[in-house]
Amino acid sequence: MSAADFYTRWADLYDPIARRIPGIAGLRKRTAEALKLELGDVVVEMGCGTGANLAYLREEVGPEGTVIGVDFSAGVLERAREHVEREGWGNVHLVCGDATQPPLQDADAVVATFVVGMFSDPERAVEGWCEFVGSGGGIALLNATQSRRAYGPLVNVPFRAFVYASTPGRHELDDPTALLDRRVETAHATVERRCERTVHTDSALGLVRLTAGRVL
Ligand SMILES: C[S@@+](CC[C@H](N)C(=O)[O-])C[C@H]1O[C@@H](n2cnc3c(N)ncnc32)[C@H](O)[C@@H]1O
Repeated sequence: MSAADFYTRWADLYDPIARRIPGIAGLRKRTAEALKLELGDVVVEMGCGTGANLAYLREEVGPEGTVIGVDFSAGVLERAREHVEREGWGNVHLVCGDATQPPLQDADAVVATFVVGMFSDPERAVEGWCEFVGSGGGIALLNATQSRRAYGPLVNVPFRAFVYASTPGRHELDDPTALLDRRVETAHATVERRCERTVHTDSALGLVRLTAGRVL
C-alpha cells in the first residue's frame, strides 16, 4: 500500500490523535508562532494531513492572509476540507500534490510537522522549500525522534512501538525508527545550514523537536 493510501485508510483514526494527544495543541501553536509570520502573509503547510495546524497558522496570518495545505493523500485532505468548511475559513485552501515538488508559485513561509521522516531525500526536499520561499522566507519543522535525554531508553521503547505501528510499508524496513531518526536529523540540519535566526526546542520528554528560521 502506498503512503498516500495508508493515510487515506487511517484518516478517521489519525484526525483525533493529531488534534487531541496531550500536549500536541501547544506544540502546534508554538510551531506556527516560530515562523514569525505577519498579518497578510501566505504560509504553506507541506503534508498538512487532516489539517490540525491550520487554525494556528490562520491565527498568525489573520483573515487577510492565506494558508495553503498540501498533501498527497485524498482521505486526509477530505477530513481537512470538512474542518475548513465547518469553520467557514475562506482564506484556507487545500491542494492535492507532492510536498517535495510543491505545485505552487510563491509563499512567505513553509511549515511541515511530522512529515520529513517520510521523505527518501529529506535534504533535497528542505532545500527545495528554502528555494521556494526565497531569502528571508520562514521555515519551521516539527518532528518526533527518539529521545536523547538520560531517561531516553525508557521512553524510546513505547516510541519505537508507535513508530512501527504508524509507518507505511513498515514490513519492508529493517528499523523504521532508525530511518525516521536519520531523516529528521538530516532535515533539521538542512534548516540550520540554510537559515539564520534559527530557534530549536526539544520537548515531550525529548521526543519532539522544533527547528525554525529565516532562509539566508
Ligand atoms: C504523520 S502525517 C502528519 C500530518 C500533519 N502534518 C500533522 O501534523 O498532523 C504525514 C502526512 O504527510 C503526508 N505526506 C507524506 N509525504 C508526502 C508527500 N511527498 N507529499 C504530500 N504529502 C505527503 C501524508 O499523506 C500525511 O498526511
